[in-house]
Amino acid sequence: MDMMQKYPRISDMVVPAERRLPKFVHAYLAAGTGIGQAMSRNEQALSEVELMPRFFRGRVAPDTSLELFGQHYAAPFGIAPVGLQSLIWPNGEALLAKAASAHQIPYTLSTVAGADLETIGPIAGDMGWYQLYAPSDKAVMRDLLKRAKASGFKTLVVTVDVPGPSRREEMRLAGAPIGSRNPMSLTPRVFWQCMTHPSWSLAALANGGKFSFKNLVRYNKEGDGDDITTFIGRQLNGSLTWDYLAEIRAEWDGPLVVKGILHLEDARQALKAGADALVISNHGGRQLDAAPPSITILPQIRQALGGDIKLFFDSGVRSGLDIARALASGADFVLLGRAFMFGLACLGAQGGQHVGDILKDELQNTMVQLGVTTLEELKSTRK
Ligand SMILES: Cc1cc2nc3c(=O)[nH]c(=O)nc-3n(C[C@H](O)[C@H](O)[C@H](O)COP(=O)(O)O)c2cc1C
Repeated sequence: MDMMQKYPRISDMVVPAERRLPKFVHAYLAAGTGIGQAMSRNEQALSEVELMPRFFRGRVAPDTSLELFGQHYAAPFGIAPVGLQSLIWPNGEALLAKAASAHQIPYTLSTVAGADLETIGPIAGDMGWYQLYAPSDKAVMRDLLKRAKASGFKTLVVTVDVPGPSRREEMRLAGAPIGSRNPMSLTPRVFWQCMTHPSWSLAALANGGKFSFKNLVRYNKEGDGDDITTFIGRQLNGSLTWDYLAEIRAEWDGPLVVKGILHLEDARQALKAGADALVISNHGGRQLDAAPPSITILPQIRQALGGDIKLFFDSGVRSGLDIARALASGADFVLLGRAFMFGLACLGAQGGQHVGDILKDELQNTMVQLGVTTLEELKSTRK
């Protein structure tokens, strides 16, 4: 199958992904929070960014590669941390880490991944970044960072914009047992959704049918009496303070990226605390439905902080054109969550490779249309 013919855009994989996934899994992947306004504003605001082409430049051969923290990357984008990818496709984490490594773009392993650091580190190789939700138990934090380092992850991404869980209304409506002691328990509705989505269910069953927060289960000591989601909620919700960020900075000797910044003062303080880069993000519209689209905040923060600070961007990016829009709005680098997950849900083992192919091709084509050969030149194309 020629995938570029069948799925030339990320958006062409959205409906097949929805068809393959049981509703409760699709809701986990695709929904925002509340009534989904922040999520749709992200995409709307990005679509409103216009770029101005220049002509008379002969044949344009764009170079999308860059150096970041001393590492060479083939393109200015990477895979954002997304929890439980193995719920979307068996071994989803390993499949995407492999695709990222082949594409020479970063793969960020989530704290709440379904695969462990020790497995994914060697697959991601030099492309591995590790995302931390700060655990309230600092011994757990130190152990996670030690394991990340030992597994070959060089860049740490600390996510700061989840002070508590969001309400996940779409998942509730889909019958997911939110708040239950056993989040994976088979309610009759979830069972029915599995029965009516056999390709997902059979693949899950062939893989043992079990989903687990592989990096965290070991810390939930027998006898504490918590099921794993209560444990995770207790550990990861509302633990982060500026002092704690400083402790993480002191513990991690590699590049530190702080993800989830919207307010200029938070940006300034995170840099003061030793962040090497900030991700301007509203978590894909999954936390606060009134959050501003991060693409409207990005140029303001860039202007206030000047050109030398490393600013990354995510939330709403669905194409190479969107990546160009973010770079033209002040980003040095872009992360994508759902775009890669739609590819994974639609195409499994080939999904990450194909999404990377589309994004690289679209970005290069955008640069040709704009008449720019370098990422630096792209920065001044916003109309
Ligand atoms: C299903 C799903 C799970 C996510 N899990 C995490 C996570 O574990 N850690 C994290 O820092 N961000 C998580 N995010 C947020 C992403 O890293 C990223 O900020 C967001 O997806 C960007 O928006 P986009 O999906 O529109 O690209 C998750 C996003 C999605 C869609």
